[in-house]
Order: sequence, then structure tokens, then C-alpha cells
Amino acid sequence: MTPAQKSATDVAAEATGPKIIIVIQQKGGAGKSTITVNLAAVSGRSSVMQNDIEDAAVIAAGIDPQGSLEDWADRVPEEALPFDYLVTRGEVGVLTKLREDPTRKRIIVDTPGFMEIDPDAAWGADPLGESRVADALREVLDLAHLAIVPITPEWLSWKPAEFTIERILKPRKIPFLVVINLHDPRDGDPALDAVKKWIDEHGYPRMSDPIRKYKIHAHAAENGLTVVEYKESGTALRAREDFMSLALTVEQAL
Ligand SMILES: Nc1ncnc2c1ncn2[C@@H]1O[C@H](COP(=O)(O)OP(=O)(O)OP(=O)(O)O)[C@@H](O)[C@H]1O
Ligand SMILES: [Mg+2]
Repeated sequence: MTPAQKSATDVAAEATGPKIIIVIQQKGGAGKSTITVNLAAVSGRSSVMQNDIEDAAVIAAGIDPQGSLEDWADRVPEEALPFDYLVTRGEVGVLTKLREDPTRKRIIVDTPGFMEIDPDAAWGADPLGESRVADALREVLDLAHLAIVPITPEWLSWKPAEFTIERILKPRKIPFLVVINLHDPRDGDPALDAVKKWIDEHGYPRMSDPIRKYKIHAHAAENGLTVVEYKESGTALRAREDFMSLALTVEQAL
């Protein structure tokens, strides 16, 4: 492919292709996979309701060579899902190709935590280093329209969020949204206010309300369920509401 043809393809994909949302945070356990799957579920359900699908309009993709999304998908009754899922296992090129499919509207990409960064990389240099995961991450970062950075009230996730934003997203000019996850309603407002204050002091855009911590989410992951399939209960409604707000915030940010 000549560079001229390639850029024509890029232009076409940009105009009609799906919007790509990367869920990224250096630290493990902040909720990247949970957010990917449940955001895809609520967004996919609304596109089903609008009769907007042949192949599902929403795709949850995982680039992790370890395949955490794959583990989850193994437990899911596929026909029950309002979205497609795709596991690239770190293969570069799959997402770039998919971007040319105009039937797809949103691709939400789960990424692995990246602990193997180059601590000595010069400010402004890419600290992702050389590895299969790094190459896969760079591909998604090149394509992404928006990044979601999950953070928890637990301060251990704050520095890695800052690193992700300052060293990975800002140099690439990728718009981002910080999302507070795992807020335990029983902890009350002080814990939540502290993390909100930290985010706001850094001038980072954030989703106004947090995604609350409910046991139902952790159990769901084991059973391959998403928020749209939780058995009706007050908690299930609140859990779903959190992801509906996230979907709305994401759509407004795109
Ligand atoms: N809002 C929530 N309420 C309850 N449990 C949650 C919530 N979000 C995530 N969890 C649980 O916390 C754990 C970590 O979440 P998850 O696997 O989504 O994080 P991750 O960022 O993808 O981690 P990794 O970097 O290791 O892939 C999982 O057991 C998940 O079920
Ligand atoms: Mg994960």
C-alpha cells in the first residue's frame, strides 16, 4: 500500500468507522476489564434497542496476550450478549483493519496493566519500551479517540493514573476521562472527596459520579455476566445506573 492510499483509507475510516475507546491505567486492579465489558454491555444494549445492528455495533476488545477478556468470554453464553468481543492476544493490525468496518460504531479496548516501563525514559520519550504488549498498546493508542483512566479511592492508584495521563496520553494528544471506580458507599463522602479533589487539582476531566463498589460486580465476572443481565434488585439497579452514566459521559466526550 502506498502512503497516499493508506491516508485515503485512514480518512475514510475516520469519517465512517467506529470510535475507539481505550481503557488504560498502568496499575492493575483499578477496573479496566470490568469497565470495558460493562460499558460495552450498556452501550451495546442501546444500539440493539435502536435496531442499529447487523454485526453488533459495539465491540469489546482485549489486547492482553494473557487474555483476561478471553477468560471472561469463556464463561459467557455468547448469544446473550448485546456486543461482540474480540481478543487480539497482542496481534498488531487487527484493530486497524476493524476500523474500516462502517457497521461498527464503538470499539472499547481493554488493556493490560503495564508494569514493565522504562523508568529512565526521557520526559517526552515513550516509556512503554519494547515488548509485544507495548506494540499492541501503541497500535490502540494511535487509533484511540478517547481514553478512560480508572482510578480508585485507594491512593495507590493515583500516581499510576498520573503517569498514564502525563507520559502516555498527553504526549499523544489523546482526550481522556478519569473515572473513579470501586467507591464503597459505606465509606461515605470523605474518601470520595479526597480522590475527586486530587483529580480536580490536576485539572483532569472526570466523570462526576463514581462507579460504586458492589459485590455483585465481582461475582458477575466469575459467572461471565454483565450489568444488563444482573438479577433485578436495588443493588443491580444502582450498579447498572453507574454504567449508564458512564456511557452517557463517554458519548458526550466523543
Ligand atoms: N465497581 C466494582 N465493584 C466491585 N468489584 C469490582 C468493581 N470493579 C472491579 N471490581 C473487581 O476488582 C477486581 C479488579 O478489577 P478488573 O479485573 O476489572 O481490573 P483491571 O484493571 O482489569 O486489572 P488488571 O490490570 O489486572 O487487568 C476484579 O475482581 C473485579 O471483579
Ligand atoms: Mg484486566
